[in-house]
Parts: sequence; structure tokens; C-alpha cells
Amino acid sequence: MIRAAVLGHPIGHSLSPHIHNRWFAEHGLDGTYEAIDASPDDFEAVARRLADEGYAGVNVTIPHKEQALKIAHRATEAARAVGAANLLTFQDGRILADNTDELGFRASLMALDSPVDPGHAVVLGAGGAAAAIVYALRHATTLTVLNRTRTKAEKLALAHKNVVVADWDDRNSIIAQRPELLVNTTSLGMTGHLPLDLTFETHAPRTVMDIIYTPSPTDLMQKAKAAGAKHVADGLAMLVYQAAPSFEALTGIRPHARSALDALRSEL
Ligand code: ATR
Repeated sequence: MIRAAVLGHPIGHSLSPHIHNRWFAEHGLDGTYEAIDASPDDFEAVARRLADEGYAGVNVTIPHKEQALKIAHRATEAARAVGAANLLTFQDGRILADNTDELGFRASLMALDSPVDPGHAVVLGAGGAAAAIVYALRHATTLTVLNRTRTKAEKLALAHKNVVVADWDDRNSIIAQRPELLVNTTSLGMTGHLPLDLTFETHAPRTVMDIIYTPSPTDLMQKAKAAGAKHVADGLAMLVYQAAPSFEALTGIRPHARSALDALRSEL
């Protein structure tokens, strides 16, 4: 029996159990994947207890991704570069940290047939999700990062040579430069949050990705489509495509991401 879980706080909204349990069933594996609420104070103790109990590993979500990297004995290059882990695997009493958000983001660009190493890309936001996406876009020629709190964007620029920082208030003029790719990693536009105030005066970027998926399509996606964007996508693909390498690390089996994504979309 393979046991795995996602640890977060809050965790009630997580779609991860749904995705992983579908794959367990699809592959005829005897496995369970739970959502476990752990406060920041309890996170380390809960992760160690699950390791002791024989869990294969856990995914980690907000707000534990940085702490997950800190408690690990070893970390992959991706986790170290992003400064956060969304996957801990337990091997012979040792904890290995990985970050599959980067792979998830790149796979969702590939699924759109959009270049994974664009010429000019723009990332809105500089939080946890942005760190993984900026790392994923490290081979873009130019990557403009804008964040309300500019110092957080500057921190990302220190780690990546291709990152240029711009003021949040200049977002419309940056978009007017017609980057190939625009990614929203902020919470603006999510149900219950403030709207993302952005206009496409002439053309939209070729690809516009919003990591939000409630609602879908987001206002940003609709505006981009109306302004002629070739590809628009919400964050559901990134969620499923980061889950796939997690599932593989936990079980040794590579699941079918595309059909899980289609199923999830029709269920939501
Ligand atoms: P996540 O880990 O999901 O990226 P986060 O670290 O809280 O979450 O980041 C949320 C992002 O949304 C940040 O870039 C945040 O900007 P700040 O760094 O200035 O906080 C951005 N964000 C949230 N509310 C915002 C608002 N009202 N206006 C502009 N940006 C906002």
C-alpha cells in the first residue's frame, strides 16, 4: 500500500487528492492520497511522523514550501534554485526535497504548443508561484518581472541574469511592448479577490497564462483572447502537470496527465 498526502494550511480546497487518487485507481495501485491540514508550527513534526509511518512522501503547498526545503536532508537543483519545495519524498529515513512546479509550468506551455524559452516574457507577481515560474523561464531572452512590492521582484532578479524589474504601475506600458508570453502569478482576478487591472491597448501577447483557475476563464484570459492572443490558459494544467512528476516520484509510475486534466476540467 502506497501512502501519500498533501500538507497545507488551509488545505480543504486542494484538488491534489482528487488527481492522485484518480491515478491510483487508473493504474490499479493500492494507494491513498490524503489532504492533511498542518499549521506552520506543526509542519515539521507532521512530515517526520508521516515519514516514520511509512508514507512514500508528501506534496507541500501554501504556506509550507520554504520550510519543506529547510527540513530536507537533500534537495534537487530545482528546489534549491526556486528556494522552495512542493514535494518531499521519504527514503530510508531521509527526506529529499524537489520542486515540480517548474516542470508543471513548462509542460503546460508545451501542451499549448507555446515556446518554453520565449524571447520576451512578462511575469506579474513575485510570490512563491512566481519564483518557480521565473526559474522555469530562466532561458527566456528577457524576463520582465513586476510586483506591487518591488523589492521581491529585485530579489528574483539577483538570482537570474535574464530578469529585468519594472514598476507595478508601469504594467500597461510593459504589455504594450508586446512580449511573447504573459503570466499572471498574483491572486488578482481570483474569485473573492480584487480584479487585475490590465488592458491590452493593441495586441495581446501570443500566449497569456493565468495561474488562477477559479474562475475560469479569468477576466485576464477573456481580455487577452478578445485582443488576439493565440493561446490563453488558466492554472489547471500547471496543477496537473506538477502533480504528474510528483506521482511518478511517489509510485515509480508515470501517469497520464492529459486525460486527468480533461477529466478535471469536465468535473469542475
Ligand atoms: P503565491 O505563493 O501563490 O505566489 P504569495 O506569495 O502570497 O502567493 O504571492 C501573491 C502575489 O500576489 C504577490 O506577488 C503579491 O504582491 P506582493 O508581493 O506585493 O504582496 C500579489 N498581490 C496580492 N494582492 C495584490 C494586490 N492587491 N495588488 C497587487 N499585487 C497583489
